[in-house]
Amino acid sequence: GRKRTKIWFLNSELAGSTVLLRGYAQTIRPVSKKMAFLVVRNSMSTVQCILTVGEDCGSPQMVKFATGLSRESIIDVEGVVSIPKDPIKGATQQVEIQVRKLYCVNRAVPNLPFNLEDAARSEREFEKAEATGEQLVRVGQDTRLNHRVLDLRTPANQATFRIQFYVQDMFRHFLRRENFIGVCSPKLTAGSSEGGSAVFKLDYMGQPACLAQSPQFYKQMVICGGLGRVFEVGPVFRAENSNTHRHLCEFVGLDAEMEIEEHYDEVMDVVDRLFVTMFDYLNENCKKELEAIDRQYPFEPLKYLRKTLRLTFKEGVEMLKEAGLEVDPFGDLNTESERKLGRLVFDKYGTEFYILHRYPLAVRPFYTMPCPDDPAYSNSFDVFIRGEEIISGAQRIHIPELLTSRAEACGIDVKTISTYIDSFRCGAPPHGGFGAGLERVVMLFCGLDNIRKTSLFPRDPHRLSP
Ligand code: 4AD
Repeated sequence: GRKRTKIWFLNSELAGSTVLLRGYAQTIRPVSKKMAFLVVRNSMSTVQCILTVGEDCGSPQMVKFATGLSRESIIDVEGVVSIPKDPIKGATQQVEIQVRKLYCVNRAVPNLPFNLEDAARSEREFEKAEATGEQLVRVGQDTRLNHRVLDLRTPANQATFRIQFYVQDMFRHFLRRENFIGVCSPKLTAGSSEGGSAVFKLDYMGQPACLAQSPQFYKQMVICGGLGRVFEVGPVFRAENSNTHRHLCEFVGLDAEMEIEEHYDEVMDVVDRLFVTMFDYLNENCKKELEAIDRQYPFEPLKYLRKTLRLTFKEGVEMLKEAGLEVDPFGDLNTESERKLGRLVFDKYGTEFYILHRYPLAVRPFYTMPCPDDPAYSNSFDVFIRGEEIISGAQRIHIPELLTSRAEACGIDVKTISTYIDSFRCGAPPHGGFGAGLERVVMLFCGLDNIRKTSLFPRDPHRLSP
């Protein structure tokens, strides 16, 4: 057989040539018994196909067959590329296909859960329609997620998951160039790593176990194992009953851990260069994708500096106080203060991406290194996009005695983490690292309002299916 052409390759240079396409029948519009229009789609690209009856065109049967097709069926089209007289509105490609042959490869049911056009509309379109009294169907988030395979076909969703892939890919590539190696740590674990209650418990051959809350302990143990610089892209499980726009029960962790030579600034340096490189890459190479998202969910491109701003927690608290907010200088910032600080930072420094560091020790996990010059603070940081956290990181305690006493001070039964603590007894280098949530990075970079939009099949307290 002849090779099929992807719709995004169709252009005016192909005029006159015969092509074979396979795609989704997006819309079918009969005009008469002798004519119909079909829009065929591959990913974000669509092309208008014209079915007419005539010599070396199609037959009346073909037109009738096309008219009877159900939307979203998979079809094969053979036809000749032609240049339309007027610009085409309903398709991305500015050429048409004069159809010679049409086959249905696999039918979709005639009563789909929703129309793709309805699912692809922007809020602006709804507002316009309301003003003119037109009735448009809104597809709610639960309906979309219940029928995710259909929902994934909208241009914004196609774009989102391409961007998600590029984020992962950049994470790997950048770190590889910086001499990190990828590792895969176990997800079946004996205990928790980020604090006890939010774990999914399971039975491991009769022994209690849980799903890993983060690769935290293992990535540090691998550093103790002499691997120097490591990263992991893998699932992270949190049994938190958080029903918010930014919490999932399973997400993809982008984690890294590295030996530190002098100072935990080295970890922030990696974060800085990694994310600036990643954002530059997305802005340069994903223009189409960003446009597709913007069309349905309008957003402003992320504003970030060449060298990422670093503020200390103290400075952040000062800024909030000056703005009239009550904040505990040794407590954690709540979501509202984080947002507010994001706006203040933007007004003052012109960036929506920044690092806040030297957090109070009391609000960080037990394994966090206290600041040597002021143990009320810690060598730790969070990173924010548009006022929301995407990363947390720190230097870790590599001295087993200090680690033990910090664990005890945080109310952790050290017997339960003895293999972790023992890892630091055979010689452990100073080290630090960070963890980002893939879905959050994509959500906030693209200015989306809900993390379920950036998870293929989201897992939240109310959703385990599909
Ligand atoms: O802040 P977290 O819990 O930190 C850790 O897991 C540390 N072990 C990381 C480190 O190396 N110090 O999680 C890290 C990131 C967060 O900044 C956030 O982006 C994401 O993971 N995250 C979530 N994403 C979606 N749903 C949730 N429930 C998330 N919890 C954290």
